[in-house]
Amino acid sequence: MKVAMENKHLADKVSLLLDELAAYGAEPGGGVTRLLYDQAWREARLALAERMARLGLEVSVDRTGNTFGRLTGTGPNAEDVIAIGSHLDTVRNGGRFDGAYGISAGLAAVDVLYRAYGPPKKSIEVAAFCEEEGSRFPLVYWGSGSVAGARVLSDAAALEDPDGILFTDAMREAGFGRDDQPVPGRPDWIAFLELHIEQGPVLEALGVSVGIAEAIVGQKRYAIRLIGESNHAGTTPMGMRRDAMAGAAAMVLALEKLALRYGPPMVATAGRLEAYPNTPNVVPGEVVFTADIRHPNGGVLERFCREMEAVFGRIAGGRGLGMAVSLWVDADPVPMDPGLAGMAEAAAAEEGLACIRMPSGAGHDAQMLQAVCPSLLVFVPSRSGISHSPLEYTEPAHLADGVRVMINLLYKLAYEERTPWEWDDGTTI
Ligand code: GLV
Ligand code: MN
Ligand code: MN
Repeated sequence: MKVAMENKHLADKVSLLLDELAAYGAEPGGGVTRLLYDQAWREARLALAERMARLGLEVSVDRTGNTFGRLTGTGPNAEDVIAIGSHLDTVRNGGRFDGAYGISAGLAAVDVLYRAYGPPKKSIEVAAFCEEEGSRFPLVYWGSGSVAGARVLSDAAALEDPDGILFTDAMREAGFGRDDQPVPGRPDWIAFLELHIEQGPVLEALGVSVGIAEAIVGQKRYAIRLIGESNHAGTTPMGMRRDAMAGAAAMVLALEKLALRYGPPMVATAGRLEAYPNTPNVVPGEVVFTADIRHPNGGVLERFCREMEAVFGRIAGGRGLGMAVSLWVDADPVPMDPGLAGMAEAAAAEEGLACIRMPSGAGHDAQMLQAVCPSLLVFVPSRSGISHSPLEYTEPAHLADGVRVMINLLYKLAYEERTPWEWDDGTTI
């Protein structure tokens, strides 16, 4: 099948939807901040629901705020749903494509298909998951994880954001968490497709339009709290201090050194650090910092983290610091569905697009959905590999290429009712 559609037209369509979402939480420097349940998130979700309704989709939400736009099928298997989408939230001062592209591309693809062919046989749903990034509360994949049964309210209820706002209060304030709203869970989904910007440099460097993720790396995120002693910066001799900031600095460098020793594809990042009392003339008595560690092999990841904790323990001990380490993200590596991957490879070839298979170093909703139904993760190039930044950018032509692959796949899955296992050639993990 081939929808006669110029790339320019598709690029305009998806860009319009992206512009619409990027207006909510727009930062002065071109970035976007849309955090779970905040004002920008609420407005974006409402605008999205309205857009879905204007496109003729049936809109529904679940108790967490996951939002779905459904194009109901007309065949005997219409209760089966092919889902396509990504997350609505962003990191703080992030880009306009991360997450939003997967949602916008889903809407653009469904609109093109409906105009060309009318309703599908199986149903299609565009999904906007409420939260993926872990940028407001210390919790990731709240949206897709809730659908997969991997997250429940009791995990989240007592969490606080950096302003001390309780998760349940934020949720209720946004209009969610009510008993009359459906509990998340989608046993009717038979496939999930996520289209995403690569967020890395590989596709651009190779001049390839499409990347198909074979697996998503395992990931652990820690919060490390160091307790020293606040004291006067002028009167406390260097040898008589218990400086939590100096201890944290030693740990951050030790983390980098350890990751360099393990070598690629190990990555470790201390992305956030808070010092107390955070005053120039006081020796910091307390520091909390984060460590984000990722590797495609779960065993290697585990070993690294044990070593990291031992090294941190030695540094803390040597400096007379108290240390509490808490693990708040613990995601295993997840292989993506090989049948859908093969199908996407065939779709890219049919659309005349160069394509490679690759790992995903970023976490994605697809890794949660893989526990619900066969799931696919497809990338398009990111300019200079930059993401989680206002500089995040993907060429309109590449945005359109990704949508073409999704149109091709949705047509095969929902209109022709093809099954992905015929494309499973056993070449993926
Ligand atoms: C999500 O974007 C991640 O941090 O991988
Ligand atoms: Mn992200
Ligand atoms: Mn994302």
